[in-house]
This record gives sequence, C-alpha cells and structure tokens, in this order.
Amino acid sequence: KFEKIWLTFGIATLVMFLSVVGVSAFYMGNQPPSCNLTIDPEKVDTTAPFDKPGLTKVEGKEWDYQLVYVASAFSYNPIKVQVPVGAKVKVIATTKDVIHGFEVAGTNINMMLEPGYVSEFTTTFDKPGEYLVVCNEYCGTGHHLMQSTIEVT
Ligand code: CUA
Repeated sequence: KFEKIWLTFGIATLVMFLSVVGVSAFYMGNQPPSCNLTIDPEKVDTTAPFDKPGLTKVEGKEWDYQLVYVASAFSYNPIKVQVPVGAKVKVIATTKDVIHGFEVAGTNINMMLEPGYVSEFTTTFDKPGEYLVVCNEYCGTGHHLMQSTIEVT
C-alpha cells in the first residue's frame, strides 16, 4: 500500500517538474523581445540572408532595402556600407559567437545580438553623414575595436 503512495508521489513530482520545465522553456522561447527568428549560430555563413551581408534593394516590401550584418568577435561584416539618403532600411543582424551590441550612433538603432537569434530593426536614414556602428555589449578583449560605418549619401 505504501508503494502505491510513493509511486503516486513520484509521478506527481515528475509531472510538476516537467510542467516547470515546459513553462520556463515557453517563456524563454519568447526572449529576447526583438528577436523572433532563430538561427543556428554555426551555420550563419550559409543561411540566407546572412550568406550575403550588406545592402540589397528589395521589392514589394514596406522597406526599400535590407541591410544584413554578421557580427563576430571582434568585427562586423560588412565593415562599411553606403545607403542612399531617405531610404527605408530594414537592418537584419545576428552573431556567430557571443552576445554583441549593435548601436548606430546618432540614430534610433540599438539592438542586442544574441547567438541563435536574428535581430531586426527598420529605420529611415534621413540625414546624410557617416554613422558609426558600435558594439555596446562587452564581448571580450577586442570589444572596443568592433565597429562599422554606414555612409548615408
Ligand atoms: Cu562585440 Cu563588444
């Protein structure tokens, strides 16, 4: 009789444990907020659109161009791009290794790039100039060297 009680207790514990795991996995799955798409960090170079980093004109979308970045310690690919002034650009970025930041000084772009996730942000470059892309998440010894330039002309 005692065995039955212990068995019930054991199963109840197991069910509880599984639901805790399930619930936390569900909430974790929704993190981080700006990154809805997932990607295999080891296959970034062969996964579209990251197989072709840089600016590409797009048709039939709400934005005019997509601007694809691959971050890795301690650089961005591409290092420099030219964007036509007034263009509505969807920035799509991911990281191949650790967490990096993606902040474009003087604009409203400020993203966190997490391994396994794709970060996206759409903005319009209204003013001509050179905009510096910097990493604002500490990612290692070369953190301060990580940068890229967006030239709006
Ligand atoms: Cu990449 Cu700091």
